[in-house]
Formats: sequence, structure tokens, C-alpha cells
Amino acid sequence: MLSQRDNDVLCQVGPGTPMGELFRRFWLPALLSSELPEPDCEPVRLRLLGENLVAFRDSEGRVGVVDNFCPHRRASLFYGRNEESGLRCIYHGWKFDVNGDCVDMPSEPAESNFRDKVKVKSYPAEDFGDVIWIYMGPPELKQPLPQYEWARVPSDQRRVQRWIQDCNYMQALEGDLDSTHVSFLHRWMDPDQATPWDPQQRQRRRTTASGQALLYREGAPKFSVKETDFGMVYGARRPAGDEGFYWRVTNFFMPVVTMPPQPTSWFGHAWVPVDDEHMSCLAFSWNPNEPLNTPMGSNNGNIQLERVQMPFSDGFIIDTWRDVRQALNNYGIDRKLQKTGNFTGIGPQRTQDVMVNETQGWISDRTREHLGTTDLAIIAARRMLLRMARELEDGVEPRAAQQGDLYHVRAIDVVTEESTLAGVLERHVDIATATV
Ligand code: FES
Ligand SMILES: [Fe+2]
Repeated sequence: MLSQRDNDVLCQVGPGTPMGELFRRFWLPALLSSELPEPDCEPVRLRLLGENLVAFRDSEGRVGVVDNFCPHRRASLFYGRNEESGLRCIYHGWKFDVNGDCVDMPSEPAESNFRDKVKVKSYPAEDFGDVIWIYMGPPELKQPLPQYEWARVPSDQRRVQRWIQDCNYMQALEGDLDSTHVSFLHRWMDPDQATPWDPQQRQRRRTTASGQALLYREGAPKFSVKETDFGMVYGARRPAGDEGFYWRVTNFFMPVVTMPPQPTSWFGHAWVPVDDEHMSCLAFSWNPNEPLNTPMGSNNGNIQLERVQMPFSDGFIIDTWRDVRQALNNYGIDRKLQKTGNFTGIGPQRTQDVMVNETQGWISDRTREHLGTTDLAIIAARRMLLRMARELEDGVEPRAAQQGDLYHVRAIDVVTEESTLAGVLERHVDIATATV
């Protein structure tokens, strides 16, 4: 349970809010590079941390991210002409480059220097790992990009996708910090029948049947949490008979990336705040050694995404993807399947997650929840975020923002006789530390 004040601080991400300022110290993975596929292509509208923005790729291939509103008389730059290294507003022809500088102002006299006095708000953006990262903080505090292993491997060893969800970022982030729900929400009565629409998922579940069986047998794992230089890790320990314990150690990279363990390939999510009531999930999976031969690794089942234009209450529209199974069609729930096939009656595992994230409400009322012993990691993550947001208000910069070179570690999924999280991390450092 949180106080209303803490819940507000945790969930509000707009300019000037404590959490919004904390997030503005980190690079955020906001778009797929493929959404801006070539120089001078069509711009894309996005909302990030409550700000309405337009992204474009200029004639040299550089990405610009600028305010949606032209600084002249506020026309939308999305409708601009993306030409000759800049985005030209279609209302009166003012043109801006990726740095937000006005490089042409044909509606003013040629001798005017008004052009030099006008800028459109712009944010630095970089292509890295097939993703467009955006930094919205003070320019003098901009750090190098976080060196995630998934972003560093060759493109054919990686998959990325993204979609919008109608809920605050924290609800989805908490889902990946909650190892317990895997034993319930994602349960299939017969693991061999898991996701019958997806043969690759089915094959994977066969190869990890022992891990799945351990998950199903023990729905109340023991949790431990440890803060790290990049954020925190938490271990969920389940008994594994004579072999000791089955440990799932999940990483939480500040400010919004979670990386649960997976035996056959690696994956994770970035829960990027769009505004207080919406978030954009970036899902990534990778194989550090060889090309990834499944469509999306193993993390999202066969979630079906559609490209949509999504309007907000202020009239702004963004270009994004969303799950075809959504609240208005009850996420495709099949009550017969729920009785005989799986726990939810909903097919794709990721849709099961979207359903529980969104149906908590746009912003979960945490003043009315009742947390149990297995919610330890969620409690720790909230405390850490709230503490860092308040420290930043007092002028203490988040250390994790300066530790991008440590962001390459992997999550661990292992059966071992080690009984403590510290022991697991020490003994299995070879698994936790990537090599790319
Ligand atoms: S509103 Fe954009 S140039 Fe006038
Ligand atoms: Fe889940």
C-alpha cells in the first residue's frame, strides 16, 4: 500500500514532477528505428513523459525529435515537408533541423535575423540496437547510451517490437518484478499444450519443462532483493528437490527496464511512460551467440499487433502499435479455454499481462491494495524510485544514469544448492555477466 502522495509521485511523469525529472536523466527507448526507415521518410508522432513530439529522419539519416507545435503559430510539424535536412512547417514554410535550429524562414524579409532567434524544442536522439533512444534532460547531464547486450549484438541476433498500453508505466513494470504471477496468470494445465497457435513456443516449453514444472509446483517463492549500480536485482527461490533450489534472478535497470530470466534465450522490456495514463512497451529478445530464429525470441508468445493512430483527450494523435486483443473485446477471453486449457482463457502470454496491467485502471489506486510476502521486489522498486526522485529534488543526481557501461549484465535462471541471493550472484557471475 502507498499513500496517495507517494502514488502520485511514483506515477506522474510530466515536466517538473519529481519522477518526470528523474526519468529525464536517462536515455529512453522510445521508437523502433524501423519506424523511421529511411532518410526524408514520413515523420512519426509520439508522446513521451507527457510531451507531444514529432520524430523525423533527415536527408543525412540523422534522427530529430522536436516539439509537435511549430514555434511560429503552433501548427503541427507532423504535417511538415521532410526535405533537404530539415522539417519544413507547411503553414508558412519555416524549416527546422534535427537540433531544433530554424534554418529557413521564407515568410520574413531576407535581411531579417529573426530566424536566428527562433528554435523549436528538440531532444537528442540516437539509433542504437534497432531502437531510437531519446534524452529529455538537461544537456550538460547527458550521458553515453546504456550498453545493453541486446542492443550491442548484430541485428540478426536480436528482435524488438513495441506497443502501447492504456495504463501507467509502473503497473507494467511491477508485473515483471512479480515472479509469482507466472505460476498463476501464465499457467497452462498441460505445459505441452502451451500456446497451441505457436509451435516454436510449444517446442520451447518442452525443452524447459522441468523449469515450468518447478514454477507450477511452488506458487509462493522466497524473495530477496539487492540494490546494484544499475538499479536492483531480485531473486525468487523455489525448492528443487535434491538439487537445492530453482532461482530466478530478475534485473531492474533504472529507470524502466526489466529483464526476467529465460533458459533458452534472453529477453526483457522497457516500460516507457507516454504520459501518466499510458505507456509504450519496448520488448527485446536476443541470442548472444547466434542468429535468433524465432519471430520474437520467447518472450511475447504470439501477441498480434496492429498499427494504429491513437487519439488523446487533448486532440493529439500518436502513431503506434497495439494488441488486437484489448479491453473492448475482453482481450479475446475464451471461457471454455479457461476451464480446460489455461488459467486465464486468454491465448498469448503477453496479452495476459496486458490484460492485468490495464484492468487495474489507468493509474492503480495503491492506497487500497494489500501486499503480501511475495510482493517484496515491488515494494523495494517503489521505494528505490521514490527515494531517487526525492534525492534528485534535493540535488542528488541518480548514479545509475552514469553507469551505462554496467547495463550489459544478464538475468539468471539456475538450479543450484546456493540458498542466498548473494551466493547465487557470486557463484554464477559467469551467467550474470555478458561477454559482448
Ligand atoms: S505555424 Fe509553422 S511556419 Fe507558421
Ligand atoms: Fe507475465
